[in-house]
Order: sequence, then structure tokens, then C-alpha cells
Amino acid sequence: MTAVTSGAAGALRGTLRVPGDKSISHRALMLAASTVGETAVHGLLEADDVLATATAMEALGATIERGGDGGPWRIHGRGVGGLAEPVNVLDLGNSGTAARLLTGLLAGQPFNSTLTGDASLSGRPMARVTGPLERMGGRFTCRTGNRLPMTVHGTDRLRPIVETPEVASAQVKSAILLAGLTAPGKTTVIERRRSRDHTERMLRSFGADVVIEETADGTAATVTGQPELEPAEIRVPGDISSAAFPLVAASIIEGSDISVPAVGTNPLRAGLLTCLEEMGAKLTRRPLDDAAEGGEPIADIRIESAPLAGIDVPPERAPSMIDEYPILAMAAACAAGSTTFHGIGELRVKESDRLSALAAGLAACGVEVEETEDSLAIHGRGEPPAGGATIAAHHDHRIAMAFLVLGQVTGQPVTIDDSSTIATSFPGFTKAMGNLGAVFSAQGPGP
Ligand code: S3P
Repeated sequence: MTAVTSGAAGALRGTLRVPGDKSISHRALMLAASTVGETAVHGLLEADDVLATATAMEALGATIERGGDGGPWRIHGRGVGGLAEPVNVLDLGNSGTAARLLTGLLAGQPFNSTLTGDASLSGRPMARVTGPLERMGGRFTCRTGNRLPMTVHGTDRLRPIVETPEVASAQVKSAILLAGLTAPGKTTVIERRRSRDHTERMLRSFGADVVIEETADGTAATVTGQPELEPAEIRVPGDISSAAFPLVAASIIEGSDISVPAVGTNPLRAGLLTCLEEMGAKLTRRPLDDAAEGGEPIADIRIESAPLAGIDVPPERAPSMIDEYPILAMAAACAAGSTTFHGIGELRVKESDRLSALAAGLAACGVEVEETEDSLAIHGRGEPPAGGATIAAHHDHRIAMAFLVLGQVTGQPVTIDDSSTIATSFPGFTKAMGNLGAVFSAQGPGP
């Protein structure tokens, strides 16, 4: 455990290129492994979560040449349904995306595999994916409460289904579509509120037949099973969920002016930018000409500090910014007036119970908050909060980074008890922020 203290910084200035998108990087490895031939992936996120997926795909028979020095990763696939039985347990560390998507991919492979993870991941619910996959004919043995470790009893006899998941979750949708790849016929997932569509976009880049339609019940994504996926060149955009931290930091630290180039701005991911604009942030996005990188829109984003005002964030925006509530909560803590996040019960089953971690951490920093089962109200006073607290990060990278950003403006420094999980999504976070002018001191080896 490495504690890190965040002290008051001066203005942030300069350009910060954020690492590759985590969601897209996981998908690139899993889908490339399902093609026949070699796929080059540029800008893959080399962080613990994605490295866990890479190691798992190697254990499942894919040949992977790791990039090194920023070069492309090369993945030699085994074709749809062609993975090999792993000799050992697949350890997915802290990564819910790796665990849930792999469960879908493995349900349709004719061998057994066992998934495990760290203390945080082993506490997270898997029933949301195993339920629909069982309706396809998948079989699983989990620990009590549908938790990891879990054995996937794979089969080459999955059936296609039409599923309307209860939660708006890209992990659930993707698990079903990946299982659908190995089933004969068409597998459909219908969403009342659309979640990120990286799987659908990337499947198309690899030549799969994916149809998106509006129906009376919501948006339907349909994949036709048993395609021969062809290798493609994938360019992973900068992760908007990582860019969120410097963007909010620059917004709340007076005199700041920073740019974050080549960030993925898929509209199903960009809810944070909408919120910041509504709060009065001085933000400009310049879409890049060749707009789509591997099927994903990207833009250069510039942000200057500005006084922020509280807003109501509606529940329907949640899927487009599900990982950005922790950092938006820090902006809300500095804004004038109240900000309420509605319909965010899903935050309770992330890497930690983010709703209660945020409420407790903000209260410890002197911010007035009200927490319900699925909402959080943050009463900002239009000035930085007192700070002077040590925050429990609960094995959660985004809780850790959010409070490290807040500590840059609080009256007293803010300490997080453990920074080790920052490496799951944003290796070099404190160094990159330090280059802009942020000030941190680590007790032990830094994140
Ligand atoms: C992700 C989907 C989201 C998000 C997670 C990454 C993905 O989870 O919180 O960090 O890559 O599909 P849910 O789909 O469970 O909301």
C-alpha cells in the first residue's frame, strides 16, 4: 500500500496525452484473438487491467507480441470458437470488464476455464452476465452469491437469444454479443438506455454482421453468429475516462489552461463533457478530421479554469458517464450550489461502492453531502473545501485519482491510503499531472 498526499498546486498548464482507452483495449485483445490472422493494435493501454486480459488471451492460445516503446501490439488470432483450454486459473486482477466479457467469450468454447480476481473483483456480481448466458445454454459454477472464482463450463452448442438486460451495462451487452459470435443465427441485445457501443463498432471493423435498430423496447444490437472475423488495424483513442481527471483538475484550479489531444469522444461515453459544459466549464473540443480511429470518433480537448455552478444530472445520462461520477463529484464539491446525481445505484457495484466512498470522502473533506440508495447530492459553496483528510481508496483507482485531484485545491492536503490500483487504468498518473503543475508526495514507490 502506497499512500499519496495531494497538496495545493498552482495553475495547471500544458498538454497531457492520456493513455489508450481501457474499454477499447480489452475488446481489441479479445476480438483480435477471435480473428484468423494477425491484427496490429496501436495505442493499446498498457495498464494492469488490460495486461491481465492479454495474459488471459495468451493462456487461451492466442499469440501476442507485446508492443514495447509505444510500438503496436500484434495479436495472432485463433478464429471464432477456436480458443484453447488454459492449463491454469485465469487471474483477472481488478478488472470487471475482463471478467464479464471473457465469461461471454468462454461460454461458447468447448472446454472448462476458471476465472478469479483480487478482493474487489471477487466481491462483484456475475449473475448479470451468467443469467442471460445460461438462457443461451451456458453453464457456470460460482462462489456463493454468483461471485468469482467461477468456472465456465464451455460448450459449442450455445443458442442465440433476444435479451433485454435489466441494467444498462456495456459489459452485460458485450458478454452476450461475444457469446453470440459462437452461436448459430442472430443474437440480439435490446437496451432501453444505450450503453457504450465499442464492441459493436469493433466487431464491424473485424467484418462481423452487426445491425443496430430502434425498436419499441429500445435500441437493438444484433450480431450474426459464427462469422469468420478478419484481422484489422486498430488505433485505440485516448481514454476519456482518464482525460476526465486532468480536465476537471484544470477546470477547478484557478488560472489553469490545458489541452488533452486525441481523446475518444464516442457520444455514448461523453456525458462528463456535457455536465461540465452545463456547469459553466470553459471547454472546447476540436474533432479531428479523420474523425474515426478504428470506428471511434476522437477530438482534441482544451479546458481553462472557470467558476462552476451546481447542476442536476439526470438518470438517463448515467450510462454515458458511469465511470466519471467520482471526478465530477470533485467538481461539484467546488461549484456554487447543489449538484445532484440521480439514478446512480450502479455505482454501488463498481470496483468499490463508489456512492458511499464518495459520500464518506467528501464529508471527511468538509463537504455537505446527502446519500440515498441511488442518488448523491453535493452542496458546493463556490470555493474549495477544507480537505485535511485521509481517504480510503477501497481498491478503486477512480476514487483514488478523484481525491488526489480534489487535494490540489483544498485548504489542507488530502491523502489517499493506497495508490496501487491507479496502475489498473492510468499508469504514470501522478507524473503526468505533475508535468502540468500538480503537486503530490508519495510515501513509498509512487503510482
Ligand atoms: C465498461 C463498462 C462499464 C464501466 C466499466 C467499463 C466496459 O461497466 O463501468 O469501467 O468496458 O464495457 P458496466 O457495463 O457494468 O456499466
